[in-house]
Amino acid sequence: MGDKRSRIIKALKDAQKGPVSGEELGLKLGISRTMVWKYIKSLQADGYEIESSPKRGYVLKSVPQLLYPEEIQMGLKTTLLGKKIHYYEEVTSTNSTAKDIAASEEEGTLVIAEVQKGGRGRLGREWVSPHGGIWMSVILKPGIPLRHASRLTLVAGLAVANVIRNMGLDARIKWPNDVRINGKKVCGILTEAKAEVDRVDYVVLGIGINVNMDLKDIPESFRAGSTTLKAELGSHIKRVSFLQDFLFELEQQYILFKTQPFSHILNDWLALSDTIGREVKVTTPSRIIEGKAVGITPDGALVIRKADDTKEEIIAGRCIY
Ligand code: BTN
Repeated sequence: MGDKRSRIIKALKDAQKGPVSGEELGLKLGISRTMVWKYIKSLQADGYEIESSPKRGYVLKSVPQLLYPEEIQMGLKTTLLGKKIHYYEEVTSTNSTAKDIAASEEEGTLVIAEVQKGGRGRLGREWVSPHGGIWMSVILKPGIPLRHASRLTLVAGLAVANVIRNMGLDARIKWPNDVRINGKKVCGILTEAKAEVDRVDYVVLGIGINVNMDLKDIPESFRAGSTTLKAELGSHIKRVSFLQDFLFELEQQYILFKTQPFSHILNDWLALSDTIGREVKVTTPSRIIEGKAVGITPDGALVIRKADDTKEEIIAGRCIY
């Protein structure tokens, strides 16, 4: 089904708003004109605006502004990420869904949703996920020790920052996982892993990006510290092509992660860090550490130089500055 739908969409797109007859589509796909009509009906039900006339055939007027797998995969330049996509209009949390299916899925599989009703952030926080954002989880099977899984958070943060920077915005990374523009958060990353005897079975990289929402769609309690790509750029973003660019960038960084010393990623991350060099306060469940952020360890821990000149490495916490 998916493949035939995609081929019909592609044929209609290739015609560039010109008509394609049912007969031609049927011949191309090796199906009857009645079957073509059924596919057209299902596309129309999904928001594809397709005009049909008995004489001219079908004309694709517009495609829905949704993250349909067919749209994402058409023109996707990756070889691993997004080859399989599970799409939902609404889900509790793409990370939870991804974890449920990760054991039996291929590396690179994506879970994506238009809306999350129970989006999860770090440290047990809620992640507000209305229409207009990109809420997704990528299943990876890097075969690394569990202690290195947090490195993938840095990989993902770097990929998000790079792709936003390519749009001309000054995206920076706030340790450990926030991508910010002009000091406001536009993306958060939640990395979850399952491991057996210290080797990860899989890593679920959960990435939430505020793309086209209006700031009023973000609850007031979060709004002051948040932004969206639309607000920063002053125009609506084509989410499908943004996502295609992001998946390509993430794949490039993932290849570097797997083939090069981690110092490569770390250096690039440091160059975009918003945190290093600042006076920070990090709260962990047991205490508060204050001092100057002076570096990051290869496993992503923040190195803080305290007032007494001693250094401390913090692996997880809430960083305030
Ligand atoms: C944070 O900054 O606290 C992390 C936020 C991570 C949000 C993303 S959205 C997609 C995926 N599914 C979730 O429930 N959370 C992550």
